[in-house]
Amino acid sequence: MTETLQKNSLDFSPQVFSKLLQEACEITENLYSEMEKRPAYQAFNLEEVKSWFDEDLPEQGMSFSNLLKYSNEKVLQTATNNMGPHMYGYVMAGGTQVSSIAELLSVTVNQNMGKWHLGPAMNEIEQRVIQWGADFIGYRRDIDGVPEQIGGTLVSGGSAANLTGLTVARNVFFEKYKIRETGLFGQKPFIVYGSNETHGCVDKSLELLGIGTNNYRKVQCNADYTIDLDALKKQIEQDKKDGLQPFCVIGNAGTVNTGALDNLEALADIAQAHGLWFHVDGAYGGLVASLDSHKHLYKGMERADSVAVDFHKWLYQPFEVGCCLVKNWDLLKKTYYKRASYLSMDVKDDGRLDLNDHHFQLSRNAKAFKVWMSFKAYGAQAFRDMIQKDVDLTKYLARCVDSASDFKLFNEPELSAVCFQYIGDGTKSVDELNQLNQKIIHALEEDGRVFIPGSQLLGQTVIRACLINHRKQKEHVDQLVDVIREIAESLDI
Ligand SMILES: Cc1ncc(COP(=O)(O)O)c(C=O)c1O
Repeated sequence: MTETLQKNSLDFSPQVFSKLLQEACEITENLYSEMEKRPAYQAFNLEEVKSWFDEDLPEQGMSFSNLLKYSNEKVLQTATNNMGPHMYGYVMAGGTQVSSIAELLSVTVNQNMGKWHLGPAMNEIEQRVIQWGADFIGYRRDIDGVPEQIGGTLVSGGSAANLTGLTVARNVFFEKYKIRETGLFGQKPFIVYGSNETHGCVDKSLELLGIGTNNYRKVQCNADYTIDLDALKKQIEQDKKDGLQPFCVIGNAGTVNTGALDNLEALADIAQAHGLWFHVDGAYGGLVASLDSHKHLYKGMERADSVAVDFHKWLYQPFEVGCCLVKNWDLLKKTYYKRASYLSMDVKDDGRLDLNDHHFQLSRNAKAFKVWMSFKAYGAQAFRDMIQKDVDLTKYLARCVDSASDFKLFNEPELSAVCFQYIGDGTKSVDELNQLNQKIIHALEEDGRVFIPGSQLLGQTVIRACLINHRKQKEHVDQLVDVIREIAESLDI
């Protein structure tokens, strides 16, 4: 380290720290100002990227100023441009400037969300953000004129939010069998239901929870990729006849492939009729329930026992911040609470909530701060406006694709995911089109002007665009279509 550290610590002198912060701020400003110019993806060779970091554990430190320069060159400037408007892959939001600043401040005070007194203000902020999330999507109901309490927990993302919801489901639903003590040994298989368009994190969750994917019924979808309700009902009846224990129905508030919204009201009715837990995966689309134009499509979500939403998706937050909402805090406490002498001695009966009693983790970072700052700084309406813009741009993209003779649209987007194929002059077989579109997807990555991977729909290879970035405008969408066509025509010879 060329910058001198203060005696017996890892801290710089105030003057040096100030200068380094200034350098880091300049890099940050530059990342924002150059964002549009940087390609969406830079197709470096794997070996080259490895070589930038291929060194033994450094025993001696280097100049931090130089390290900032090196990191800027090799890490930040080469980064996949998730910030910028040409990102269409997966479900990738661009972050907000308020969150960038919030993250720096929050890691600086290094609060631990495990115990209330380890971060009183941050703890209260987390609880407030959970209530705001519930209100934003209309999850809180008035029961006999009294608003529901709503509990929840911030987690790393959508996968963790679904795992959390399903863990609560399992532990609360089977509390009578004391499965927290005995495990699942000796229980009849519990059966879980979801459409075959449900996200793969549910499979992973069921594996982790010891339920197993053989006990997961992936129910067929209708032509619009929503769950076939009759097929679901028949399957539940069949499982009951076979002596199994139907346990949980999962509804999709936006499937990952196409943004399809299951009929949540009907699913809530089915769950109620059969006494099942109702979980909604709203990781991708849940927050769109905040739009007046879309509220009706989410009817029934407010009846769910648990809902996964994801603020690092359609609330434009940087990774990682997901959220699992449940109807009250007690459900989480029943799932996770463990007494430990080293955690319980300070407990004061003054109404404080220790979040580790409601979560698998003890130590946890202050994920809520960036969300709280964003809601306060921008206001909820600004988020609704940006979400609406993404939805409108997606419909515009779908129209561009549908009206072009060289493209074929695979779904009418309700949210912001649209799948399509390049079909050229329309004379190719299904197999030829699958191969051609696979080549196009690889060539688009190599080209790097836009980032747009593919997926499989109806057994066919499709190009899939997902638009959740508040920086995207109509001209970017026009450019997307032009780039895909240009690449496709260069391959389709
Ligand atoms: C519907 C749905 N559920 C769950 C997830 C998983 O979320 P995460 O990647 O934050 O773990 C995704 C991710 O795209 C999703 O679209």
